[in-house]
Amino acid sequence: MTNVLVVVHSVTGHTRALADGVIEGARSVEGVSCRLLAAAEVTNDDLLAADAIIVGSPTYFGQMAADVKHMFDASNSIYGRLEGKVGAAFTTVGAAGSGHETTNLSIITAMLVSGMVVPGFASGPTPCFGAFSVGMPTERELRSARHMGERVATLAARLSSA
Ligand SMILES: Cc1cc2nc3c(=O)[nH]c(=O)nc-3n(C[C@H](O)[C@H](O)[C@H](O)COP(=O)(O)O)c2cc1C
Repeated sequence: MTNVLVVVHSVTGHTRALADGVIEGARSVEGVSCRLLAAAEVTNDDLLAADAIIVGSPTYFGQMAADVKHMFDASNSIYGRLEGKVGAAFTTVGAAGSGHETTNLSIITAMLVSGMVVPGFASGPTPCFGAFSVGMPTERELRSARHMGERVATLAARLSSA
């Protein structure tokens, strides 16, 4: 079984709603189990148990929210042990063009520094740095999140069986 962990921080529900698309996509892949945790409750053991970690944050000043950054900061005590796990990011913003790419990149940067394997998205509905929505996700934005969840879970399943 390949374990996908979806981590989310959400205050007004937009990012939590987008997470549903990611989870649905991941669960559509055979042999994959997917669970959701709030960033504030994630432990290093949760991170270590996962084959893939998909992190969603609201865009706060063009970056991940503090609760999400805190989770990465706390993972410093297991630094090096996330190497080889698959990672991806998603975010929601208040307005188009006001930081969704930089937020996903801020999450991806932490993943790369942790040695994780982060796919880009070059075809299909997912934007290259990961899914996003402006406010509550539309069906189109959920489709992009589903595609991302499915693609990350497929990659993680391949890597964990290799
Ligand atoms: C402290 C703070 C900073 C924010 N910064 C941005 C920003 O830089 N760009 C943007 O488009 N929206 C910004 N927003 C709006 C949120 O990103 C947006 O409402 C998001 O969808 C909230 O996600 P949630 O419903 O999951 O909590 C900010 C909101 C807060 C509270």
